[in-house]
Amino acid sequence: MAPDGRIAPPDVQQAEPIPDAARDEIDRLLTSGDLFRYTAPQDAPVCRLESEFAALMGVRYALAVSSCSAALFLSLRALDLPPGARVLVPAFTFAAVPSAIVHAGCVPVLVEVGDDLRIDLDDFAAKLPGASAAMISHMRGHTSDMDAICAMCDTAGVPVVEDAAHSLGTRWHGRKIGTIGRIGCFSFQSYKLVNAGEGGMLITDDPELAARAVIMSGAYEHNWKKHPGLQNSYMLWQNRLPLYNMRMQNLSAAVIRPQLPLVEDRVARGRANHDRVAARLDASPWLAVPPALPGEDRAPDSIQFRLAGDWTDAQVRDFAAAAAARGAPVQIFGLSPDNARAFWNWQFLGDLPDLPKTRAMLMRTADVRLPARLSDEECDLIADALAGAAAAARS
Ligand SMILES: Cc1ncc(COP(=O)(O)O)c(C=O)c1O
Repeated sequence: MAPDGRIAPPDVQQAEPIPDAARDEIDRLLTSGDLFRYTAPQDAPVCRLESEFAALMGVRYALAVSSCSAALFLSLRALDLPPGARVLVPAFTFAAVPSAIVHAGCVPVLVEVGDDLRIDLDDFAAKLPGASAAMISHMRGHTSDMDAICAMCDTAGVPVVEDAAHSLGTRWHGRKIGTIGRIGCFSFQSYKLVNAGEGGMLITDDPELAARAVIMSGAYEHNWKKHPGLQNSYMLWQNRLPLYNMRMQNLSAAVIRPQLPLVEDRVARGRANHDRVAARLDASPWLAVPPALPGEDRAPDSIQFRLAGDWTDAQVRDFAAAAAARGAPVQIFGLSPDNARAFWNWQFLGDLPDLPKTRAMLMRTADVRLPARLSDEECDLIADALAGAAAAARS
């Protein structure tokens, strides 16, 4: 019950539950102590997860690692970019993404993002000359125009890495997000569709990139023999690449594997929840949910919406306070203190560019988690609390 007597919306921070099927395997691992992915001669849980994930995505190679950030870092290292290489990245992303670029010795070049939460293609085209790679964050699961981006990058000979941390299950004109660029990276951190606490996956069809990433992830000595295929490539790179030790451990794989068969259902439920809440928010004169692009089939685990029309910062803060009081807390990307998605907080990058479009979007865009497990009634409570808070802030 909310303080004013209304039925309170649910706690949306709770992650997706772990299926019971994980328990036997976790017990087995705890009993044997076999937690390291390379101890078993074959069929370790991490190895099985890699083959299952590759099959799910329809790609040749999948490498399980400790986080999506690790996968992003390994992608750039696998591409063998020279120190100081410029990597385009949307300015609306999570701080860990430009951080992965810096970690790989490269220089992030922030690209403007519009009110629709998609990459500004004019700014992308303007910044592409001189870039060595593009790291496309499908931020909060929103897909930018991948046809246009890939066409520009192909012409310029620039490889695309997809940051699909929030996009497992999203499709772009029928193609699975994460399989469009040279490399795709996914997250299993708890707020994602598949919850392992932490974890990541790198996928690619390119044998050379896969071999390089496997070795650098920490397949030391001849542990690469436990990854199928690629034997010649591994021989080529043996001892010639650093070992960054970003491996996944067996317990994480045991938690993830029983969730993979649930992905399709979670995607359908997440999309239904999102569209149900979006319809109610769009009915408010003060709120607007950016629509999907044509050809984009979303797999949302959260909802973002604009405070439409003219709002002052004070009114936006009143809205956030009223939503919290109604039990539906929101983050306004640009107004919540030290938000890791507001590019001006990424002071580790040094001189930050002026990005007026992205800044304006962040100052007026709200973010609410919307896990797939919510019921229709719970979605309605959230939507009504948000619409009510907007009306109160504007009254
Ligand atoms: C867009 C985006 N990319 C990458 C990451 C990093 O994922 P991980 O926590 O698995 O490193 C996140 C984390 O939430 C994210 O939101």
